[in-house]
Amino acid sequence: MYKYQHGGDVYSSQVTAGGKAPIDFSANINPLGLPPGVKRAVQNALKNCINYPDPFCRELRTATAAYLGVKEDCLFFGNGAADVLFRLALALKPHKALLLAPTFADYEKALRSVDCKINYYELQERYDFKVRKSILSAITPNTDLVVICNPNNPTGQLTNRRLLLEILNKCVEVNARLLIDECFMDFVDEEKSFSMRDLLLRFPNLIILKAFTKTFAMPGIRLGYCLTADAELQRLLHECGQDWSVSVLAQAAGKAALMEKEYLHETALLIREERQYLLRQLQLLGAVVYGSEANYIFFKLDQPKELVALMREQGYLIRSCANYHNLGEGYYRIAVKTRVLNRSLIKTMKGIRKNALLTDDN
Ligand SMILES: Cc1ncc(COP(=O)(O)O)c(C=O)c1O
Repeated sequence: MYKYQHGGDVYSSQVTAGGKAPIDFSANINPLGLPPGVKRAVQNALKNCINYPDPFCRELRTATAAYLGVKEDCLFFGNGAADVLFRLALALKPHKALLLAPTFADYEKALRSVDCKINYYELQERYDFKVRKSILSAITPNTDLVVICNPNNPTGQLTNRRLLLEILNKCVEVNARLLIDECFMDFVDEEKSFSMRDLLLRFPNLIILKAFTKTFAMPGIRLGYCLTADAELQRLLHECGQDWSVSVLAQAAGKAALMEKEYLHETALLIREERQYLLRQLQLLGAVVYGSEANYIFFKLDQPKELVALMREQGYLIRSCANYHNLGEGYYRIAVKTRVLNRSLIKTMKGIRKNALLTDDN
């Protein structure tokens, strides 16, 4: 049977022991919810659903290019960033790829669908799971594709531009592509000093993946894109799938989302403050916390072993990271939400941990 590997599975746990809908800390979605302007745009666009969507996403493309300060023909949109990943795999058909471990599972899933062989660059706990210079020697003439998630999911760690530039140059040297997933970059303080999108024109082997999903709390609408200056790759991406993967509603939602400047400002302030709150509270609880530069926190807690199940019983979904390569039991990821929700999560976790430690003592 197929096993779903991600967070955000609110459908398998629709009601808790108390009969209430669970609070989902397992998917890293903007806690401010869908911006009202996006909701209105989707409602207004319903009347246009009698037509096929624009296969070139023209209005959305123009708006996104202006918003990011990139050239329009560098953009390719898809049905969420995950959809773009599968297209990239099909378009590039790499033989050998280098992935971080741990990292987002769908790089491997997409690459395996085209029989790509995977090598892992294992991130080490003693270096806080950071990408280090040693990655350069793992990029060899056999490497066709390197994928760096920045900030990385689930570790929350950033790779700085200096090292990314070295990786990019090494990729040029061995004739490999570099895919940088910046889907969580909007939650990083000073994202401009970490994003590599200003280098697209200089490096046609650079591909950047982004999504509206997390930033604008719209995982159910499905809208993501990649940036590349390689015109031939753009053409292949169109060839490798249907022409209508971005619905009329998703295109309208994306255009409206880009106008939400105040929402993004509020998001940045909220995440900055609540990230600190959660980091401190988790430490007080006895957890080891790492990195966490985005809107989620990666931590290790040895007891209780059944934390995910116990939290679920109390109405909270958190992400066990046991199924990531190079991780095991005891590692978790939680999303950063509002103070009221964060406080209630911590309170519940404290109760569960206290019980576990008491049981252990007896
Ligand atoms: C790092 C990363 N990239 C891409 C995606 C896929 O995003 P989307 O929902 O836009 O397909 C996810 C989803 O969790 C993710 O964590």
